[in-house]
Amino acid sequence: MDVDTALRTRGSTRAFLPRPVARASVEAVLAAARFAPSGSNIQPWQVHVVEGAVRDGICQAVLEAAVTAPERQFWPYQYYPSVWREPYLARRRACGWGLYTLLGIARGDRAAMQAQERRNYTFFDAPVGLFFFIDTDLGPGSWLDYGMFLQSIMLAASAHGLATCPQAAWAPFHQIIRERLAVPDSKMLICGMGLGYADPAAPVNRFRPDRLAVGEFTAWHGDGAGP
Ligand SMILES: Cc1cc2nc3c(=O)[nH]c(=O)nc-3n(C[C@H](O)[C@H](O)[C@H](O)COP(=O)(O)O)c2cc1C
Repeated sequence: MDVDTALRTRGSTRAFLPRPVARASVEAVLAAARFAPSGSNIQPWQVHVVEGAVRDGICQAVLEAAVTAPERQFWPYQYYPSVWREPYLARRRACGWGLYTLLGIARGDRAAMQAQERRNYTFFDAPVGLFFFIDTDLGPGSWLDYGMFLQSIMLAASAHGLATCPQAAWAPFHQIIRERLAVPDSKMLICGMGLGYADPAAPVNRFRPDRLAVGEFTAWHGDGAGP
């Protein structure tokens, strides 16, 4: 798969087949992604791969906490703005409604929305889960590096016929996840990611949210070399 095709065809997968993923395939994806660039090559990423009983135990504990223990949920970092404003608010709404419409969830059906949100905590049934940690003393530059690493994983997965869903939804449950994986609190959970084979029959996997056109986010300055 060429890079352009990989970029254009990758999408967040929210329904996976139960088909297991060979350890060698997960390893191959990580082995490719480790070539992601990072400032001064410090490679700030630390990945925990969860499968089988460990995966299931985390899913169960987090699902339980999502229902019964609101005090066990808080963001270790700020992902979103504390006050939403345009143009981001409209984009966020379009994304949410696009997804819910495809799933047949009506506006205002909070129970159905919550049930869909909680599907995050089974990795959308992906058999492999990845958790991404960073040392808490590393700053925004290293987070920039991390984003490139995450995208590298997703593109490498596509090239191996695998699908992914990056999931910040896990971050508020960082305490539970760190306990289960024996990760000290000097490391912060950035996000999780489901990894597996996409269910081609699931309508939710057809969701392809719009993108801005190049001209909407790019300013050109000076004379170009060509027409
Ligand atoms: C860092 C990060 C965290 C995300 N967290 C979630 C999540 O918790 N749950 C989810 O369903 N999608 C999550 N997404 C997926 C985004 O909604 C998705 O990337 C966006 O809508 C664009 O769609 P696409 O990935 O299919 O191109 C996340 C994406 C990123 C990059």
